[in-house]
Amino acid sequence: MKRIGILTSGGDAPGMNACIRAAVRAAIAHGVEVFGVRRGFQGLMDGDIFHLSRRAVSNIVHTGGSILESSRCLEFENQQGRQRAAASISKAGIDGLILIGGDGTFRGGALLAEESTTRIVGVPGTIDNDVFGTDFTIGFDSAVNCAIHAIDRIRDTALTFERVFFVEVMGHHTGFIALHAAAAGGAEDLVIPEEALDVDAIARKLEEGKRAGKKSAIVVVAEAKMPGVSYRIAQDIGLKTGFETRVCVLGHVQRGGSPTAADRVLGAQLGTAAVQALLDGETGKMVGMLAGRIAHTPLRDTWEKPKQLNPDLRHLVRLLW
Ligand code: F6P
Repeated sequence: MKRIGILTSGGDAPGMNACIRAAVRAAIAHGVEVFGVRRGFQGLMDGDIFHLSRRAVSNIVHTGGSILESSRCLEFENQQGRQRAAASISKAGIDGLILIGGDGTFRGGALLAEESTTRIVGVPGTIDNDVFGTDFTIGFDSAVNCAIHAIDRIRDTALTFERVFFVEVMGHHTGFIALHAAAAGGAEDLVIPEEALDVDAIARKLEEGKRAGKKSAIVVVAEAKMPGVSYRIAQDIGLKTGFETRVCVLGHVQRGGSPTAADRVLGAQLGTAAVQALLDGETGKMVGMLAGRIAHTPLRDTWEKPKQLNPDLRHLVRLLW
């Protein structure tokens, strides 16, 4: 292993830069040269590859986004696109590649690993936390913290006007961000794609809360497949209960900003582990963190095996509202 490449693909996530920094410095410490690939798989196909020194990753540990930029690349889904990428990799003399991203990135990476001789190792970097093989993904903790800061602020105005607020969070097709934000933000109720939406049950709960003396309420809604879904739910609840409702869609605000300490540490650990995995001859694997230990999971398992929400945490949100 003489030269490795590194790229970020799909939705960016706070902590990706901490991970890039760690991978670059760990590789250089092992005498391996590092190359950055701009704009994910798109840059890999276009040969947009450049040398990364230790200094090139100075002063980025605290920054959001990705210094390597990112893309969602449809062309990489067909074999011709991947052959173009394989040609760029061999032209640059790269023998190992680190992919930081989520399930879409790993789908492309698994195919590339099967079709080429380059060693491929994935690192879970997405705010959604929807990747099997790691307890948490890089960026998830920052997104949840962003959501709870928003909830804390909304709580002030909700109480002042005695309103019910629906705070919509990201999470792709899962409710990880929503569940953790609801637990940390003390939400009255939660709407997640893992459970059937029952507007009557939410209305009953909010009415029960009002009878018990609650003046305002926060309902956290996962955007799931329908960003903006909260507007319809808020309208239905308003009609059923007569409560004054408002909606706050957090959207891409959750993807930016300085990473939390947890995401910086996870980024550093997984970036270093990815380099070690390549040096050990691994390919077609993702490095994750399970119960405080580095774990290697076949890339295919990362999206084929379902990752469950924590049922105890779900129970707590029901109990503590
Ligand atoms: O995967 C990260 C994510 O932010 C999801 O939570 C969201 O559904 C999606 O990306 C939004 O994608 P885009 O930035 O392409 O609109």
